[in-house]
Amino acid sequence: MNTKNKFFITTPIYYVTAKPHLGSLYSTLIADVLARWHKLLGKKTFFLTGTDEHGQKIAQAAQAANKEPKEFVDQFIDAYKQLWKDYDLAYDFFIRTTDQYHVKAVQDWIIQLMEKGDIYKDYYRGWYCTPCEAFVVEEPSLDQTEQGPLCPVCKRVTVLVSEESYFFRLSAYQDRLLALYQEHPEFIVPKERANEVISFVKSGLKDLSISRTTVKWGIPFPGDAMHVTYVWADALNNYITAVGYGQKEKQQDFAYWWPAEVHVLGKDIVRFHAVYWPAFLMASGLALPKQLLVHGWIKVGEQKMSKSLGNIVDPQWLAQTYGVDQMRYYLMRQMSISQDTQFDIADIEQRISADLANDLGNLVNRMLVLAEKYNISQIEAPIIWSQAAADLQAASLELIDIYKAYMDDFQIHMALSSLWKFIGQANGYFHAQEPWKLAKTNTEQFVQVLSAVCHSLYTVSILLSPVMPHKTKEILKSIGMDKALPDHALKHIVEWNKSFVLTQIPTLFEKPQPKTTETAMQKEEIMETSEYIDIGDVAKVQLVVGTIEECQEVPKSSKLFQLRVNFGDKGTRTVLSGVRQHFSKEQLIGKQGVFVYNLAPRAMMGIESQGMMLFAPNEQDKLQLITPEHPVPNGTVLR
Ligand code: ME8
Repeated sequence: MNTKNKFFITTPIYYVTAKPHLGSLYSTLIADVLARWHKLLGKKTFFLTGTDEHGQKIAQAAQAANKEPKEFVDQFIDAYKQLWKDYDLAYDFFIRTTDQYHVKAVQDWIIQLMEKGDIYKDYYRGWYCTPCEAFVVEEPSLDQTEQGPLCPVCKRVTVLVSEESYFFRLSAYQDRLLALYQEHPEFIVPKERANEVISFVKSGLKDLSISRTTVKWGIPFPGDAMHVTYVWADALNNYITAVGYGQKEKQQDFAYWWPAEVHVLGKDIVRFHAVYWPAFLMASGLALPKQLLVHGWIKVGEQKMSKSLGNIVDPQWLAQTYGVDQMRYYLMRQMSISQDTQFDIADIEQRISADLANDLGNLVNRMLVLAEKYNISQIEAPIIWSQAAADLQAASLELIDIYKAYMDDFQIHMALSSLWKFIGQANGYFHAQEPWKLAKTNTEQFVQVLSAVCHSLYTVSILLSPVMPHKTKEILKSIGMDKALPDHALKHIVEWNKSFVLTQIPTLFEKPQPKTTETAMQKEEIMETSEYIDIGDVAKVQLVVGTIEECQEVPKSSKLFQLRVNFGDKGTRTVLSGVRQHFSKEQLIGKQGVFVYNLAPRAMMGIESQGMMLFAPNEQDKLQLITPEHPVPNGTVLR
């Protein structure tokens, strides 16, 4: 039980290879909304976010941009902080894994676990996925491609890593982890994600490599200068170091805030949070976080919106075009946390026009305009409510309970749906009472209708304030309730006995001009600096023309052809190519093609490939040969 009445919520810390995008914004927004909600419930809250700045992925991006890693990551930090500010994400602390207190605390953590025997040195050989910064665990089922096996998570090519490494004794925690999932079924939300985790753990846990010798950009491994800490053993610990772990002067803070009530994360990083993280904490003798809230992806077409896939939409542009609160509402209303959602500009525009302008905006506007027309600005609650108003009040009380239940269950979209049902009831009440007639015939009844609408708007604004902090403040201002909000505003909205003072405010929501999703994506056409390469990088790749003289299937592979390629004076080479679904042997033999000639040789299915053949996919993703317009001598180098 949470006796401290506190709420500590975190976001993933983001890789800083580029500016933040809508996906990173989404995780941070969920955390912001939940922190604000718990504040409304009267809790002391702590909302943590930050950036994950070490590892191969960042080192590579920095190298491509011709910068030192630290200099490279520094340039993006302001973009993150600015976006969080623009979207009103009121975090309490921003951690960077390059912060010295974090580096030191992670090193102390390693020393402690080494002394305990939970970290030991051994030798690692296996496939590593750089985009995921993760070793691939399910080796037997790996999909092979010409360049190497694919990562089962992100489907990108992995590389073979073979090096000395320090290991965390993850295998020793299998039973305790399974007991955790069983005793705390609420630990992973939603449940579907928990099932995946449980079957992964049941299939057997191997010890986890937590250091690298071939990567230099990372926290130096204590006592062994050859190693740096593997990025997840560094990154996950941010959740404790940010609130004082390992820092003498912050022991009390740490004791107060840890464990976190909720870690918010995307479904791509569940395993790290649901398996490795609790095991790390068990090994350190620390309490476990109460819940992992795992959300789905924002997708464009069939793909996750992602920096590396280049299909991102600029959140700044969205905020400028549609408004911050409007975007916050769209993201929280349109997306069901547990599922993936297609990003669609038409949905944003529809939500703004229908839900915000028509339903909520009109209710405020119609009431204010009518009151002004009849010179009424001071509204007292009636002694006795009419039946219709009493029904509306009953609906508002029911709403508060339903809304709370949904928010406790992290179903923010459903909470908003119930709120909009109530807004519909309030609009229906207003219309049915025909206050424009009462204004002329029965002032007392007229004021009662205004009062009932004001009470309704008060309830709506307080409940909606975590999602739309600005617009709800304006509504509260229009009914004279924006100042001195009580700490427990949720309790305050229950009684319908308030006095209101009306003030005219500008139109709350304008209906947007229709645009397309493509328009939004074009705003990101300009490449991130990190994606440019310089001329020196181009010169590194030798592209050479060769003729395929022989072609045969590779036994036991459904995809690979073994090609014998004539490179003229340069001799002949064996090249493996995973294109059996695209070409018959006859279509390839005798053809000229373009090959990456200076690619390091690598073995696939026991055969060494000495280069890589290039193809161009057509619109149906069917590969096409790249052949010179007129034959050129074999061995010609492209320039
Ligand atoms: O994984 N839809 O960082 P990251 C929804 N550094 N959410 C998305 C998204 C999308 N299209 N794309 C990204 C890392 N996200 C690690 C985390 S934590 C100790 C270390 C969100 O920059 C989602 O929450 O790749 C995902 O988990 C997070 O951004 C990952 O961001």
